[in-house]
Amino acid sequence: NEELMFTYRGVLYPSRLCSAKTFEALEGMEARKEDVLVATYPKCGTNWALQILNDILAAHYEDFQMPLTIPMLEFGAPEKFQQIKDQPSPRLFSTHLHYDNIPKSFIENKVKILVIFRNPKDAAVSYYHFYNKHPLLPTSSSWDDFFQKFMSGEVGWKSYFDHALVWDKHMDEVNVKIMTFEELKENLHEGVKQIADFYDFPLPEEKIQSIAEKATFQTMKSEAPQKIGAFAPVVFRKGVVGDWKTLFTEAQSQEMDAKFEECLAGTKLGTKLKYDKYCK
Ligand code: A3P
Repeated sequence: NEELMFTYRGVLYPSRLCSAKTFEALEGMEARKEDVLVATYPKCGTNWALQILNDILAAHYEDFQMPLTIPMLEFGAPEKFQQIKDQPSPRLFSTHLHYDNIPKSFIENKVKILVIFRNPKDAAVSYYHFYNKHPLLPTSSSWDDFFQKFMSGEVGWKSYFDHALVWDKHMDEVNVKIMTFEELKENLHEGVKQIADFYDFPLPEEKIQSIAEKATFQTMKSEAPQKIGAFAPVVFRKGVVGDWKTLFTEAQSQEMDAKFEECLAGTKLGTKLKYDKYCK
């Protein structure tokens, strides 16, 4: 279990997916204004946002094709940046890095960043199942053990709460749009529209509708085996809001409530997360 994770600049990452060399190469990556970046804490809706953005870009640019390379900035070998350099615009990327760790050129070149957050209780439960099902991540001895690690930030990409606090500081920037898993779940049509508008790719209603239909959990789950093979059930598990109730004990629930209160209550992102609605 130990060697499956390594620490880079104080943060844990999966060693079979990321490396110090790739992080070093990433720092020198030249972003372009037309790049499209999705930033998430793990399990908050990365694949969902990528699906939506892929279809928005395909609707806007006739010849847009999602590249075969994994769009996650920090994954893979450092040599991949040569390929990325030659890739035509618009380039679609994702990352689990927060604002302070995203390569500077993304900020300098005013790349629009779509950030997806999710209530921390569901994110923790989703992350727990992901750890246990993913062959390249350590297996937790129990939910209790994982919960404590999630709370103390001893998980890949570190603490959910640190990420939320960093993004909260950038919520009002014109090139940053923060949305939540829960709002996409409540009104996917509206979510797709907002994402298209943020990127200045306004779309006709019927197009928004068809993109939303392709981004429902059922459709994505049923199409995933052709796209990502045996890995499909690892990513597309339940896709619901409130699954935390299946695992959290009352004491864990209170511990999370206290942590939320201490860190995020009263912040803009904390308010946007609608904690009382989704976590109580
Ligand atoms: P669950 O484990 O709670 O089911 P990420 O893509 O960031 O790894 O996040 C994965 C989580 O998003 C999983 O949550 C997955 O089921 C959920 N998800 C993916 N696509 C979804 C969709 N179209 N609708 C709802 N949830 C989705």
